[in-house]
Amino acid sequence: MKLETPRLILRPATMKDAERLAGQINNLNVSRNLLVVPYPYTLKDAKWFINHCIDKRKKKPIDDYEFAIELSDEKKVIGGAGISNVNKFQGIGELGYWLAEPYWRKGYGTEACSSLLDLAFHKLNLRKIKITVFAENAASNALARKLGGKLEGTLRKHARAKSTGKIHDENIYGLLREEWEKVRKKLR
Ligand SMILES: CC(C)(COP(=O)(O)OP(=O)(O)OC[C@H]1O[C@@H](n2cnc3c(N)ncnc32)[C@H](O)[C@@H]1OP(=O)(O)O)[C@@H](O)C(=O)NCCC(=O)NCCS
Repeated sequence: MKLETPRLILRPATMKDAERLAGQINNLNVSRNLLVVPYPYTLKDAKWFINHCIDKRKKKPIDDYEFAIELSDEKKVIGGAGISNVNKFQGIGELGYWLAEPYWRKGYGTEACSSLLDLAFHKLNLRKIKITVFAENAASNALARKLGGKLEGTLRKHARAKSTGKIHDENIYGLLREEWEKVRKKLR
């Protein structure tokens, strides 16, 4: 599956992306915010993850839609994002995202996540998306709120980042389909 936005293409990662992705995630400014990403992050880790995504896509029903984010002009991968833990009976899934540091604060996070929310609500017909963010991650909390996420609670000392071993409070945002419909109109 491929998703297109004005500046981005979201498409499955392939082995050709492994080296670039490894270089981009091997940055504590990125991985300290992510739950299960090791530091240092090696080419082997990237290849393992890409193979894991390939295997997940073979599963029926698919419960994980992971994408590499590519700049359409330059055909350069700049990050990754996806909808995971999709449960069509429950109507729920989880949004996750990261960008390489040089590409922060240019609106790419909003753009990539908007296309994923359209996928979640319009194509997968989910009712609700969850976004889980470490409490001190200012950028991701801001993005979750910009997308219309409502803070539903904070799980205290609930998560340990693999990269740093640090314990975090986790903010849980919920976004309902009807809330997204209102927000997406404003973002256009
Ligand atoms: C989180 C992340 C994807 C945000 O992507 P981005 O492309 O920089 O976000 P955008 O440019 O679309 O900005 C979205 C909103 O967040 C705000 N924002 C972005 N970075 C911010 C920061 N460091 N502090 C405060 N607000 C910030 C923007 O101002 C914008 O809000 P506004 O339009 O109301 O001003 C990016 O910072 C990142 O990859 N971080 C490391 C990995 C990570 O934390 N992943 C999420 C784990 S839950």
